[in-house]
Amino acid sequence: MFDSGVGGLTVARSVLDQLPHEQVLYIGDTANGPYGPRDIAEVRSLALSIMDELVDCGVKLLVIACNTASAAVLHDARERYTLGRGVPVIEVIHPAARTAARVTRNGRVGLIATRGTVDSRAYDDALQAVPGVELFSQACPRFVALAERGVTTGPEALDVAESYLAPVKAADVDTLILGCTHYPLLVGPISYVMGEDVTLVTSSDETAKDVYRALARKNLLRGSDGPEPRHEFRSTGDPDAFSVLARRFLGPEVIAVGRTSSGPGVVGAHVPPDTPSLPIALQGSA
Ligand code: DGL
Repeated sequence: MFDSGVGGLTVARSVLDQLPHEQVLYIGDTANGPYGPRDIAEVRSLALSIMDELVDCGVKLLVIACNTASAAVLHDARERYTLGRGVPVIEVIHPAARTAARVTRNGRVGLIATRGTVDSRAYDDALQAVPGVELFSQACPRFVALAERGVTTGPEALDVAESYLAPVKAADVDTLILGCTHYPLLVGPISYVMGEDVTLVTSSDETAKDVYRALARKNLLRGSDGPEPRHEFRSTGDPDAFSVLARRFLGPEVIAVGRTSSGPGVVGAHVPPDTPSLPIALQGSA
């Protein structure tokens, strides 16, 4: 699984909860995040470098735990990894879109996401076939920076939420898609501002169900009789900073974080020459 940073951990949490025997290898591309303001071609190239690394490590399934990357690279990823190497690719946009389509009562659905996701119109496309659903989109770039700083409550988070969410509130939506995997980390202020009558939709639980389905279909589920899963977390940026937030947002499964360069072609990744490229193997919790 990968994301530009800590946001994908919200998806990782659901995967660990729903599939407790699976081993997760997670990469946070913190040296190159945020992806949201980047050009789509740049996001595609960053995402492919990271997925190359994951596939070279022998993963049996890939999760693009990032909406911006899902919008930028899903088609290429399925061609390169699923058709090319037999590795299924799961993304986060369709799970959230189909949940929103199911739960809305008045057909007015809000989307908050990165600039890249909003501009890609990936959610508009995903919801296009659903009759009677109208989408109101709002880019909220500062939410990602807040989550990456660990600022998920308090006056700053609330101010930012109030200013971003005013237009979606005014559109009278009854359902709001948190179309960025970082945003569930700010669910407190978002839900406070939107009010109790608006259903917040995140992709994490539905995405984990897609992971289960894909593994079950291919008979790839790991049994309970094997050794305890050993999860592994890597970041392309500062592993210590990532580790603090990852432990807070994901939980005790994060024991240490390794630094990775994620291979050639990564924009702006910095690995000091004396820092060994990892994996550090980590102990799973339960
Ligand atoms: N968490 C990511 C997403 O779901 C990326 C946010 C960013 O890096 O801008 O879009």
